[in-house]
Amino acid sequence: MADAKVVLVTGAARRIGACIVETFHRHTYRVIVHYRQSAVAAKALVDTLNEQRPHSAACIGSDFNNNAEVEQLAGAALRCFGRLDVLVNNASSFYATNFGEVTQSQWDDLHNSNLRAAFFLAQSLGEEIASQRGAIVNVIDTHADRPLKNYPIYSIAKAGLQAITRSLAVELAPEVRVNGIAPGAILWPELLQDSEDPSVLEARERVLRNIPLGALGKKQDIADAVYFLANDADYVTGQVIRVDGGRSLA
Ligand SMILES: NC(=O)c1ccc[n+]([C@@H]2O[C@H](COP(=O)([O-])OP(=O)(O)OC[C@H]3O[C@@H](n4cnc5c(N)ncnc54)[C@H](OP(=O)(O)O)[C@@H]3O)[C@@H](O)[C@H]2O)c1
Repeated sequence: MADAKVVLVTGAARRIGACIVETFHRHTYRVIVHYRQSAVAAKALVDTLNEQRPHSAACIGSDFNNNAEVEQLAGAALRCFGRLDVLVNNASSFYATNFGEVTQSQWDDLHNSNLRAAFFLAQSLGEEIASQRGAIVNVIDTHADRPLKNYPIYSIAKAGLQAITRSLAVELAPEVRVNGIAPGAILWPELLQDSEDPSVLEARERVLRNIPLGALGKKQDIADAVYFLANDADYVTGQVIRVDGGRSLA
């Protein structure tokens, strides 16, 4: 389908980003999978999607710690299918930064992936997305509002992404709607995923006890909400929807 809509999802080789890509693809979008280190997973995902529908998926590598690579990603994404309708800013680095010991390079790394790239991609791609009357969706975090202890820089960067969502909704209206999703607990961080450490198990139990809906969310819950904001929310802009099982109420 040469006239099918096109979405670029950042950090999309695996986990939630890959689920967002698969969801847009099921809805007949052509998809651009951005990755940094996960080249093998990105290519495998693209191969699978192209087997389902030829010429419907592509991937582009880029490290957001390098300004030039962010701009290169924007240019390559525009050339990929010759149009762009939706940008999903999903890429993120996530790790603890204990106050008192934070380094400049941690500050830069957490801001580059969670905040800066989202702004500059929107700036470079906004005109094309406007010409398609498209949308931008930022994947934020409920910790943008309720900072996560020992993760101040991540929480600050996500709060900035929430601010970007509102500012760009104003800057890019009326052609482009800009919204955000704030996931609660969906997937445990990869390093802790299979941990049997009692303190990690206890921390997980604590998280689950504080979720009114009583369970972790699913990747698909986030992907469906992103798809809804990009496609079915014609009169919504500058908003952030919490998809957190009610955790932020507890
Ligand atoms: N998991 C959760 O429960 C949860 C909860 C709240 C919010 N969120 C948000 O939801 C989104 C997806 O979550 P996730 O857990 O699936 O994410 P993730 O696996 O932690 O990270 C997504 C991708 O971001 C990319 N990335 C990291 N640093 C980068 C950099 N400097 N340049 C370019 N790409 C970079 C990585 O790509 P490569 O692998 O290719 O290097 C990574 O695979 C994130 O924005 C996250 O903050 C998730």
